[in-house]
Amino acid sequence: MLTFRPLTPSVDDLAAANLLLQSAFQADSNWEHSLRRYIGFQPDGWIVAEENGQPVAMVGAVEYGTYAYIGMMAVHESQQRRGIGMQVMEQILAHLDRKGCPIVLLDATKSGVGLYNKLGFTKMGVRAVFDYRASTPPPPPDQPYYLLTAANLEEVIAFDRPIFGGDRRRLLEAQLEDHPDRGLLTRGANGEITGYLFADERRLAPFLASTPQTADTLLRAGLQFSFNALPGVIAPLQNKAAVDMLVDYGFVSLRNCAHMQRGGSAHPQQIDKLYGQLSYAVG
Ligand SMILES: CC(C)(COP(=O)(O)OP(=O)(O)OC[C@H]1O[C@@H](n2cnc3c(N)ncnc32)[C@H](O)[C@@H]1OP(=O)(O)O)[C@@H](O)C(=O)NCCC(=O)NCCS
Repeated sequence: MLTFRPLTPSVDDLAAANLLLQSAFQADSNWEHSLRRYIGFQPDGWIVAEENGQPVAMVGAVEYGTYAYIGMMAVHESQQRRGIGMQVMEQILAHLDRKGCPIVLLDATKSGVGLYNKLGFTKMGVRAVFDYRASTPPPPPDQPYYLLTAANLEEVIAFDRPIFGGDRRRLLEAQLEDHPDRGLLTRGANGEITGYLFADERRLAPFLASTPQTADTLLRAGLQFSFNALPGVIAPLQNKAAVDMLVDYGFVSLRNCAHMQRGGSAHPQQIDKLYGQLSYAVG
């Protein structure tokens, strides 16, 4: 019989969840740091399913007030296509319904789309991973840009809120804590924030900009950092300016997910200003 319990940030739970994700996604990545962060953002939002005391599946959701983002949905490879994914999703959706969450978003791999359709999700677009493939970075931008610091974080949070469509203060604080020297922002003629991005070791994210010109400045500035591996950007394909710019600078898209929504009449984000989301797990 399948039983459910909260996934905690204990060493044992993180290790077990990491093994589940590696098995489900057939990847040897280590998700423990991200998971610890995500559970910290939403301690009651993570579920592990067990059968005979063994973890077989997991999922989580982070709530942003106006909507929740579901991610890290994984069923152990040996246990797939037995109805476990459906039961795990029903659990998390019932939890979000109980909390009165009006809209749920997620990014679905091909193997998940059918399941999410059955649960009332509708495809709203495509979110694609663009990997940087150019051998040399572009020239630095002509326009000014500034370091994102604790002193301007409140302004960045206020800029982010209407575009992201929810309050992700905790994520932005964590991003600054993890990457204190790798956040950049731009300002307009009156000193107002017009865009920002974080360049972590493998991804430019989040990456938001009021105009394509501002996005260009931030992208060129962000690509001046050194990276462990060539960085990626997860961009909405509906943002044509984002796609054109990324392709022009030598990014190539090889993978994507269907962006899906359940509940609500309109999509909560301003997609024309969204150039890069933080991850597929938390939006
Ligand atoms: C996507 C994923 C979570 C689905 O989990 P799952 O446990 O296989 O899901 P279910 O068993 O409930 O449903 C999957 C399919 O099996 C079918 N199925 C369910 N029980 C079945 C059974 N007893 N016999 C045969 N088929 C069955 C379902 O009808 C469904 O079919 P569909 O794909 O045509 O809609 C899982 O495949 C996975 O972890 N994939 C890798 C990671 C990933 O892509 N995660 C999703 C990110 S959005």
